[in-house]
Amino acid sequence: MSIMESLVTRRTYRRFDQRPVPQDVVEDMIEAVRLSSCGANRQAVRLVIIQKPEDVARVQPLVKWAAYLPPEQGTPKPEELPTLFVAVVQDTAIPGDLATDTGIALANLTLAAWDKGVGSCIMGAIDRPRLSEMMGLSDGMVLHSMVALGYPSHTSRVVPMTEQTGVKYYLDEERNYCVPKRSAEEIARYL
Ligand SMILES: Cc1cc2nc3c(=O)[nH]c(=O)nc-3n(C[C@H](O)[C@H](O)[C@H](O)COP(=O)(O)O)c2cc1C
Repeated sequence: MSIMESLVTRRTYRRFDQRPVPQDVVEDMIEAVRLSSCGANRQAVRLVIIQKPEDVARVQPLVKWAAYLPPEQGTPKPEELPTLFVAVVQDTAIPGDLATDTGIALANLTLAAWDKGVGSCIMGAIDRPRLSEMMGLSDGMVLHSMVALGYPSHTSRVVPMTEQTGVKYYLDEERNYCVPKRSAEEIARYL
């Protein structure tokens, strides 16, 4: 898959097959974050891998899916849940532009997973206090987001953003995601 193909198809996935993500894919994701560009090469992003089924099950009620959709459409059913979570944590003892560094790390992580067919959903609507406690995060370690992962059981495609769609993703008649994106003309101009 070329990088542009990856960027087109690496969408957010919210329903998954119930087969585990292999360890080599987990290690690729860790490597992708380890190698990420970051301000002054300070490397403040940390990961917690949650892959034991009993731990994955404890995370499920602490994340919120698809704010633009009613829960019966956007929340995965028990047989559609992600099989792996990766917590993305910032070590705030290390100074720098942690927001930018974390964004780059998230992009690398999700692209490395997608390169092996593993789909993801970056999740910011999460119960940070309870997840931090569950993972035993120490003072100064700040939970930024959870990434839900697994082999997707639906497709997702980019569609043109129109006045009708606005920015809200929606499901088509086959329950596949349609994700409106602004046009190139709208987001870029030549000087
Ligand atoms: C910082 C961030 C936080 C997000 N939080 C959530 C979330 O809590 N729940 C969810 O279902 N999707 C979440 N998403 C996924 C976005 O809804 C998704 O990226 C967006 O709709 C565009 O779809 P695309 O990733 O396929 O381009 C988040 C994405 C990002 C980048």
